[in-house]
Amino acid sequence: MTRPLTCHTILALCEQLAQWRAGGASIGLVPTMGALHDGHLSLVRATAKRADKVVVSIFVNPTQFAPHEDFDTYPRTLDTDRENLADSGAADLIFAPGGGEIYPPGFATAMHVDGPALGLESDFRPHFFGGVAIIVAKLLIAALPDIAMFGEKDYQQLLVIRRMAADLGLPIEIAGGPILREDDGLAMSSRNAYLDAEERKVAGQLNLVLKAAIARLRKGDAIREVEVTAETALKAAGFDTVDYVAVRDAETLATIEDLAHPARILAAAKIGKTRLIDNMAV
Ligand code: PAF
Repeated sequence: MTRPLTCHTILALCEQLAQWRAGGASIGLVPTMGALHDGHLSLVRATAKRADKVVVSIFVNPTQFAPHEDFDTYPRTLDTDRENLADSGAADLIFAPGGGEIYPPGFATAMHVDGPALGLESDFRPHFFGGVAIIVAKLLIAALPDIAMFGEKDYQQLLVIRRMAADLGLPIEIAGGPILREDDGLAMSSRNAYLDAEERKVAGQLNLVLKAAIARLRKGDAIREVEVTAETALKAAGFDTVDYVAVRDAETLATIEDLAHPARILAAAKIGKTRLIDNMAV
């Protein structure tokens, strides 16, 4: 079992990585907000197949939460995360900075991404991608990994990060790892822990509604009609609010009228206080 080292400062991280690099090792980075589940661990294992040393960052990033969102209650489980990463045998270093290390007093820089960041999540969480872009840019610049791996559950986030890294000229492969699902198909997420037993049953319907929508799209039903039917089905299944069900170009997230190019169906819906997202290739 590899017990990962832990660094709390950017300086300590850079020093350790410089040592590994000097020995010829390639570096992989898996940015997370902790509360690690099997989905995260699968990303860590996948990264270990692509890089000699794997860094997992754990930081609940305040700038990607709006004031009314769950920053304060977001699960923080560093000790368990450390054990799970040690058991995985795939992580070499945990980077767990404090808030002041990432956002020192006087911090005054913001980022704005257009392109894949427009619409969908941004319509409901306008602060989100600016916060994600700044933290991920800081992590990428600090670690300068050969590869950084992100889960496809946050599909729009993956495309936004890819855009941002390309626009900044960062010579880093931004890779996506497939969504891991529970037995009923619910996409694994740290936020699933918020669901009570009743809500958990409803949550399991999200992936089924998306699968049914994909079946209709493949039969040739009109995209707009399928989106509307899927939203209605989610409400009927017990979701309190449906933010969107949208069929988009899989590479750009642009609105599409047909399936001439690879497409992705993406959805966000709320049960009680818990907001869930999911997506699938069409
Ligand atoms: O997907 C997440 O867990 C976060 O948005 C990320 C990429 C670690 C940035 O805080």
